[in-house]
Amino acid sequence: MHHFHYVEKKLHCEGVALETLARKFGTPLYVYSQRTLAEHFQKLDRAMAPVDHLVCFAVKSNSNLAVLRTLADEGSGFDIVSGGELARVIAAGGDARKCVFAGVGKTTSEIEFALRRGVYSFNVESEAELQRINAVAGRLKKIAPVALRVNPNVDAHTHAKITTGTYENKFGIAFEQVEAIYARAAKLKNLRLRGVQMHIGSQLTSVAPFEQAVRKVLPLVQRLQAKYALEFFSIGGGLGIVYDPALASGAANWWQTKAAKNILTPQKYATRLLPLLRPLGLKILMEPGRFISGNAGVLVTRVEYVKRTGKKNFLIVDAAMNDLIRPAFYDAHHEILPLTQKSGAIISSDVVGPICESGDYFCKDRPLPKLGEGDHLALLSAGAYGFVMASNYNTRPLAAEVLVNGRKAAGVRRRQTVKEILADEKIAPWAK
Ligand code: LLP
Repeated sequence: MHHFHYVEKKLHCEGVALETLARKFGTPLYVYSQRTLAEHFQKLDRAMAPVDHLVCFAVKSNSNLAVLRTLADEGSGFDIVSGGELARVIAAGGDARKCVFAGVGKTTSEIEFALRRGVYSFNVESEAELQRINAVAGRLKKIAPVALRVNPNVDAHTHAKITTGTYENKFGIAFEQVEAIYARAAKLKNLRLRGVQMHIGSQLTSVAPFEQAVRKVLPLVQRLQAKYALEFFSIGGGLGIVYDPALASGAANWWQTKAAKNILTPQKYATRLLPLLRPLGLKILMEPGRFISGNAGVLVTRVEYVKRTGKKNFLIVDAAMNDLIRPAFYDAHHEILPLTQKSGAIISSDVVGPICESGDYFCKDRPLPKLGEGDHLALLSAGAYGFVMASNYNTRPLAAEVLVNGRKAAGVRRRQTVKEILADEKIAPWAK
């Protein structure tokens, strides 16, 4: 569910017409719904209420300070993967003691920073990393809380680029090696073994792979718990969202349709996993990113040109793959809606950006209303892995971001300028 709806033919985010925002802030423009963010967090938090738990929002999915603040105010913890993300959480007013630090390549300075700030746990992805954390902690005279990331070797049946829990992936420690590494870690003086972590992939649309992974890892967790007095078990993120029919199906009762009945909800997730997790008596951590932020954001863009070739109708818009790379990178589907609802002719169209690559498209052969220069479109479900994956490719400035709360809207990131892009570069001193 989300709060992007047509009101009198105008697409709104909560109580604000997106066209008003496009005029005021320009395009391309990311717009986030605060209410959607908070409600998604609350849904998962409530579903997991029967166990001691902490929802740690995956900062990588959307790291805008205003988004992080919204979640911190809801009581969220954070899953971070760099010193930069920890700095963001702190700048947003979040609590470092509710942060879990993941990632296969933590540097010494990142480990130092996280130790000084007192993160809840380092989710460790190799024995070499364990040694390094122990050494850094020793130098700082601190005890580092750690959890090993178990790779359960379970196929998540998701896109190859976002599968993480099989031995084909670089992530985690092979299931069979985990116990021996805990035993060696227990001998390292500056570590405290605090938990166990796993994450099998992203955009999972059924609960079965989660259940399979939890069932597989559970006996191991119990053995480790008995030996090392662990405190938590993190079951990772990965809850998928609906990218497809939602609003565009036009069905006001979309949530009662057959497609909707099959989707993965926090209730289904909790109903299947809680009976397995509850007997452990451990604190359960989750690291959802997309589930919370995905449908809470849209990318608004403007049609610059309409171009008809022999075969195709191209809508050339002012957003591009540098703003939202998911269609180019993962063949991802993003629903596309005009900001002003149109009736009449439907034309099969490709929505493409101005970048000089054929991969720079948002959709191909999509039935869309007849649109012309100056019309605005919204790319839905762009709140996760949207702005955070943006780049300056083709020297295109990063888009602006806006947060909406009811009838209020605030710019939460100013549009970058070309001057800012050039500011850090210089000509080599020996140039003629
Ligand atoms: N925890 C760990 C250890 C992760 O690696 C990830 C995502 C998450 C949590 C959050 O996953 P989520 O709940 O958002 O599915 N850029 C890709 C997704 C990459 C996901 C990377 N890891 C996309 O646009 O689909």
